[in-house]
Amino acid sequence: MNFLEIAQKRKSIRQFSDKEIETEKLDYILESVRLAPSAVNFQPWFFYIIKSDESKALIKKCYDRNWFVEAKAPVYILACIDRSQSWKRGYDHKDHGDIDIAIAVEHLCMSAAEQGLGTCWVCHFDPTLCKELFQLPEHLEAAVIIPLGYPENEEENNPKRKSLEEIFKTI
Ligand SMILES: Cc1cc2nc3c(=O)[nH]c(=O)nc-3n(C[C@H](O)[C@H](O)[C@H](O)COP(=O)(O)O)c2cc1C
Repeated sequence: MNFLEIAQKRKSIRQFSDKEIETEKLDYILESVRLAPSAVNFQPWFFYIIKSDESKALIKKCYDRNWFVEAKAPVYILACIDRSQSWKRGYDHKDHGDIDIAIAVEHLCMSAAEQGLGTCWVCHFDPTLCKELFQLPEHLEAAVIIPLGYPENEEENNPKRKSLEEIFKTI
């Protein structure tokens, strides 16, 4: 698959089979995350790989949508921003940790798609509860939860995207 084919293939998956993920595939995906670029190469992130039943039960408490609570994904990744390491732009102090984590998470989602695995970005969870349940250190902010596994039912349609004309202008 070339890059555009992977981008076309990746879509949010919310129903997973409980089939285990091969170690080589998981390692491949994690390596793609490790290689992600970040502002000033500060790499202001930390990722929890949730595999135990106990940790899965905790992560499900953080986001109470049915599909998530009932999901059988074998792995969940909790992507955290390390605000103590993220680059802040001198002009306006804008913290770039959110941008950095988004790049790393999308590396995860794209490499997973290439490997035939499904993912879904989840940001609409309770970050305070998550921090408490996982006893995250003070400097880490829970930013994204990503269930990872083989799709059970591929969702039918990619949601519609804006047209090229709507989003690009040559100047
Ligand atoms: C930053 C971000 C946050 C998201 N948060 C959630 C979420 O909390 N729950 C959910 O079901 N989907 C979430 N999504 C998935 C989007 O709804 C989905 O990517 C979008 O509808 C486009 O669909 P597609 O991923 O299938 O192309 C999120 C996506 C992004 C990029």
